[in-house]
Amino acid sequence: MGIIIKTPEQIEGIRRSSRLAAETLKYLEPFVVPGAKTADLDRKAEEFVRDHGAIPATKGYKGYKHASCISPNDVVCHGVPNQYELQWGDIVNIDITTILDGFYGDTCKMYSVGEISPYAQKLVDVTRECLRLGMQECKPDARLGNVGWAIAEHAHKHGYTVVYEFCGHGVGLKFHEDPEVAHIAEKGSGVLLKPGMTFTIEPMINAGKARTKVDRKDGWTARTIDGKLSAQFEHTILITETGFEALTDVYGDF
Ligand code: MF3
Ligand code: CO
Ligand code: CO
Repeated sequence: MGIIIKTPEQIEGIRRSSRLAAETLKYLEPFVVPGAKTADLDRKAEEFVRDHGAIPATKGYKGYKHASCISPNDVVCHGVPNQYELQWGDIVNIDITTILDGFYGDTCKMYSVGEISPYAQKLVDVTRECLRLGMQECKPDARLGNVGWAIAEHAHKHGYTVVYEFCGHGVGLKFHEDPEVAHIAEKGSGVLLKPGMTFTIEPMINAGKARTKVDRKDGWTARTIDGKLSAQFEHTILITETGFEALTDVYGDF
């Protein structure tokens, strides 16, 4: 397959779609409160995406039926929206991928439901730092493996583990393109990054063991094997001539 180097026109399309995916996460913020059902948050996300002329990429993807993935507490990723009511003290991830004019943007972030424990807060903070450190490795002629190296170094330093059963991915013209972006890797390994590449970095960091298991009931929801907390942040990244641009960063963190 190979990694697609995007044209300036394609980059502009991916930038617009990425921005919309991120705006959707921002829009949801006031609704992520104790008592909210994850299925209702999914419906709000879908309305927002469609009202802005886009399509939720997950709907119909490999049989997945929802506009978002909503992953509370021990859910690592691909949490299926359902009748679960968010509880005071939960941490929850919402992941949105949009298709706008044929271009894909993919992002996720953590929300706190009411007040969360210092234990949960630290996992969320370290996971956000892991994404930031991974992104800071992104520049022309750097090795992709340095992203996973930087992420894993930071996670391990805090006593956390890195999920290796799910990866980041090229994104833009399709949902999942080459390359696969490992969140734990050896320094100096992997392909050389080049301007015009677009891919996600989306580390999933666990408080306990790294292993995951998929719920047999819905076939999607991936949980930590030991029931301990997991956190994740995701940005769609563009490699530029001088470094990177975080296309889904509407908060201006980068
Ligand atoms: N958005 C997820 C990602 O970051 C993929 C979700 S696929 C689904 O790659 F089918 F589970 F929705
Ligand atoms: Co992704
Ligand atoms: Co995603």
